[in-house]
Amino acid sequence: GRAGGPPAPGTDFTPVPPNREDRVVIPEGFRQNVVIRWGDPVLPGAPDFDFHAQTAEAQQRQFGFNNDFAALLPLPGSPTEHLLVVNHEYTTETHMFPDYDEENPTEEQVRTAWAAHGLSVVHVREEDSGLHPVPGGKHNRRITLDTEFEVRGPAAGSRFLRTTADPSGTRVRGTQNNCAGGVTPWGTVLSGEENIHQYFGNADRVTDPDTKRRLDRYGFAAGPSERKWERFDRRWDVTAEPNEPNRFGWIVEIDPFDPASTPVKHTALGRFKHEGATIKVGADGRVAAYSGDDERFEYIYKFVSDKPMKPGASAHARRHNMRLLDEGTLYVARFSGNSPAEEIDGSGRLPADGAFDGTGEWIALATGDRSFVPGFTAEEVYVFTREAADRAGATKMDRPEDVEPNPVNGRIYCALTNNSNRGAQSNAGPDEANPRSGNKHGHVLEIEDDPLTARFDWNLLLVCGDPGDPATYFGGFDKSQVSPISCPDNVAFDRHGNLWISTDGNELGSHDGLFAVPVDGPERGRVKQFLTVPVGAETCGPVIGDALVTVCVQHPGEVDDATPENPASRWPDGPGSQPRPAVVAVRPARP
Ligand code: FEO
Ligand code: CA
Ligand code: CA
Ligand code: CA
Repeated sequence: GRAGGPPAPGTDFTPVPPNREDRVVIPEGFRQNVVIRWGDPVLPGAPDFDFHAQTAEAQQRQFGFNNDFAALLPLPGSPTEHLLVVNHEYTTETHMFPDYDEENPTEEQVRTAWAAHGLSVVHVREEDSGLHPVPGGKHNRRITLDTEFEVRGPAAGSRFLRTTADPSGTRVRGTQNNCAGGVTPWGTVLSGEENIHQYFGNADRVTDPDTKRRLDRYGFAAGPSERKWERFDRRWDVTAEPNEPNRFGWIVEIDPFDPASTPVKHTALGRFKHEGATIKVGADGRVAAYSGDDERFEYIYKFVSDKPMKPGASAHARRHNMRLLDEGTLYVARFSGNSPAEEIDGSGRLPADGAFDGTGEWIALATGDRSFVPGFTAEEVYVFTREAADRAGATKMDRPEDVEPNPVNGRIYCALTNNSNRGAQSNAGPDEANPRSGNKHGHVLEIEDDPLTARFDWNLLLVCGDPGDPATYFGGFDKSQVSPISCPDNVAFDRHGNLWISTDGNELGSHDGLFAVPVDGPERGRVKQFLTVPVGAETCGPVIGDALVTVCVQHPGEVDDATPENPASRWPDGPGSQPRPAVVAVRPARP
């Protein structure tokens, strides 16, 4: 591999070595502060957080649980003030309540969990001491499982979306499992509803064969749900409300600048376990939204709008742009390798041409009320997108997570977290885009894609793992000079176009972390670890500014058998405390 020269701009720090410390470890010369934690106030009247006396009413006004994606949107008129928008992906009740009985949750605990989901919008300010919430921020908002959403796009009002509570099929209460996301060029936030299946009970008691098959394809399980929510609201019981599951699994759009706005669920982007969605603008102004379905052997999708984006930030342009995702064409990706199949043997070693690479095509699934998939109506394509993509012959990927365009070089980067089942039993075997059997450490895909064309080129930038392992690849860089990386999950970019990757589930014995890697020039592939997170935590939602890196530390202390009496982590509050998911800001130390 290429040897290292001077660090690429934006990557001038000493890498953090792999470690298992119960704190956020950052490079020398940087300082950090906790911005906001689960239970901290967001709305007026929020009581101080009390782990031993948490209530639903308090939680509705406080920062939610398990912060995942984060966006930092500049507030006009002040370079140091921003809106911090954060997803609260899921709840871990055994870590949220001191006396939680998994067989018999109380109604108060269940309602608290509903309020701990969704998103938070928090006005924050950069000060000498760090990034901090501004008390009484006028834009502050909590979106929960009780917030009303408008369903838009071609499947709004579909017979598959109608329920007793909403016979129109156009109004959904709440959002859940919001994992990753993206900021649109028009200043809104897109957020993906991911593992939606886990909150519903009794899928096995559904008798209609079509409904049953569709529930199975999306992983809805037999028996009571883990959290028993169906005891307190029948919408979580699929025998009582068989269409309620279809009202989740969408990309949602939030306008953080208008706290009174009704957030939107976009049916045109299809329904699956959306990790997130990000936008690239085409030459004629039409926009593409890229999205991964984060499960083993699932697909990568692209939506292309019919209408072009209006430039500028006028109210008129904004209103127009917030309708762009209503109409367009939904595609799914098929990848073809350019090396002989026998050279892709599942070992992860490079084929003779020196690259895992090739071409691909976007297969059109539906546009408006027109389906391109034999045997599927357009409505079925949008609501049961996984089945339509199966039929269309899309390429089964190793857990496609974040997919995001690089603002500097325009290429699209996709984290494929892992897939231990690749090549096992009757499962799909290795292919050039997913070249390892039993893929424990994941890989990172680089796609050259014009938003407006159906054909693309691709290659693997990274095949992750221990650089000493011959089944790894670091963009052609000298592997003796890189940080080990395992299970890439979220991706982000700095202003130089360097790719930043956060990880989920490190399989190399270190805690998860955040990594920077140049993708162009002589330093391409030189992975450097910027930070690690505490025991049991996942690194999420990186936002990379010039002198401010923000990360979400999700589920600290999430370790088997950990309990409030015996927590696995004491982060962030220290000795005697319970672990709390929190957002951390890292900045260069004062000179
Ligand atoms: Fe919620 Fe795909 O991670
Ligand atoms: Ca994720
Ligand atoms: Ca090749
Ligand atoms: Ca994840």
